[in-house]
Amino acid sequence: MADTIIAPSKASETGAIPLPADSIIVVLGASGDLAKKKTYPALFGLYRYGFLPNNVKIVGYARTKMDDADYKKRISSYIKTPTDTLEAQLKEFLALTSYVSGQYDQDEGFLNLTKHMEELEGDVEERHRLFYMALPPNVFTTVAQHLKKNCYPKTGGARIIIEKPFGHDLASSRELQAALQPIWTEDEIFRIDHYLGKEMVKNILILRFGNEFLGAAWNKNHVSSVQITFKEPFGTEGRGGYFDQFGIIRDVMQNHLLQVLTMIAMERPVSFSAEDIRDEKVRVLRAMPIIDPKNVVIGQYDKSLDGTKPGYQDDDTVPKGSRCPTFAAIVMYIKNDRWDGVPFILKAGKALDGAKVEVRVQFKDVTSGIFKDIPRNELVLRIQPDESVYVKMNTKLPGLTMKTSVTELDLTYKRRFSELKIPEAYEALILDAINGDHSNFVRDDELDASWKIFTPLLHYLDENTDIVPARYPYGSRGPAFLDDFLASYGYAREQEGMYQWPTTKANGNL
Ligand code: BG6
Repeated sequence: MADTIIAPSKASETGAIPLPADSIIVVLGASGDLAKKKTYPALFGLYRYGFLPNNVKIVGYARTKMDDADYKKRISSYIKTPTDTLEAQLKEFLALTSYVSGQYDQDEGFLNLTKHMEELEGDVEERHRLFYMALPPNVFTTVAQHLKKNCYPKTGGARIIIEKPFGHDLASSRELQAALQPIWTEDEIFRIDHYLGKEMVKNILILRFGNEFLGAAWNKNHVSSVQITFKEPFGTEGRGGYFDQFGIIRDVMQNHLLQVLTMIAMERPVSFSAEDIRDEKVRVLRAMPIIDPKNVVIGQYDKSLDGTKPGYQDDDTVPKGSRCPTFAAIVMYIKNDRWDGVPFILKAGKALDGAKVEVRVQFKDVTSGIFKDIPRNELVLRIQPDESVYVKMNTKLPGLTMKTSVTELDLTYKRRFSELKIPEAYEALILDAINGDHSNFVRDDELDASWKIFTPLLHYLDENTDIVPARYPYGSRGPAFLDDFLASYGYAREQEGMYQWPTTKANGNL
């Protein structure tokens, strides 16, 4: 098992200020799904690699009344401990954590929380607290206000981590921002988009700016289109009530996929510092016009063709007649020198034929003449699963022939870095917040700029009741017209059976 994790660079190298020894991490919403599935497993991961501050204490806070044993059972339910060492480490980790129950809208609970934190901190000179809000959006603001009022230390400092949804359009996002801003400074806020914690997304900067040959071809002269694809093989399965208020565009495109797009498209930052990186990201977003509805298709899944998987509207938690998109393909443009005219295609769907997230940069045709029908180069960045980068290349087919064959330069992480563990996105991001490094968090102006691009489209789809998503069967590639839609933006899809990564079946292209 790959179990070595490369230590992070020292926070001081990035100019950020790490949380000191004796800090406290509070998980608000400790009884919920996000906390159980992501936050605590990530905290445990950081603990066992020795990346948490010395003598840290972790406190859970939520409305549910639970005793210590129930709390610990719940927060460890998603932590796997296949070895005795891990089991022992989990025990040590659980000994660092305790639970306080209280309401989200009353001082009393938060005052109890402060009392509990002070007991844990003892007589320290400065108190440093990190609040992780694993909470539903309707209580964000109230909790943030109560934390500031009742739990903000008089000496030392505090940070809060919040997570999407940051509103559902530009106006509501600004409202949320306006409520947070007077009480928490931008420096204290860490807005998570967990895609920014994924190893391959973090790799984009290095790949692009650390490789001359890639940098040279990374523009409208050589790139024909960029596709960013998100596929999940399952539907909403009981979570439809929540999903129906958002739809796929708000759920993963306006945030996760747009973040990937900005990393792919941004100019070289002056340095790796958080503000230099985020300045360049905002610049790209500001060069993007609002989305034109004619560059958009939406879909909703039906039953699977064999009838074994339910359609979206068969989910009891989904309102009948819902027009909520579970699939969308959106073509966006960037009006700057580097990218003018190049379509950036975001494609995302639930209940599709597989699970993958990838970026596909398709290059232009090579000059014809000596070649007929030679396929285009593509650079594929597989974000998940099986992290890899490969470039589809034409080579001579070995033998007494001048026929060509598509092969690849392939960097598959599992093979190349077999002994290294790829950190979970939440591990990477919580550690960044502990270290005070904002590079991989969403800045306020970035959030605003992203909503500006998407809001007119979202309102158009919400308001026009005659726009109904195209149906596609559960387990398919999406709506039937998808290939024609992509082809109309110049995307040349590989002929079925000709090339398959990582291996093409024999005689595929002979
Ligand atoms: C979440 C969405 O933000 O991202 C989910 O709300 C989606 O609907 C998830 O499934 C995908 O994250 P990941 O890390 O599994 O790709």
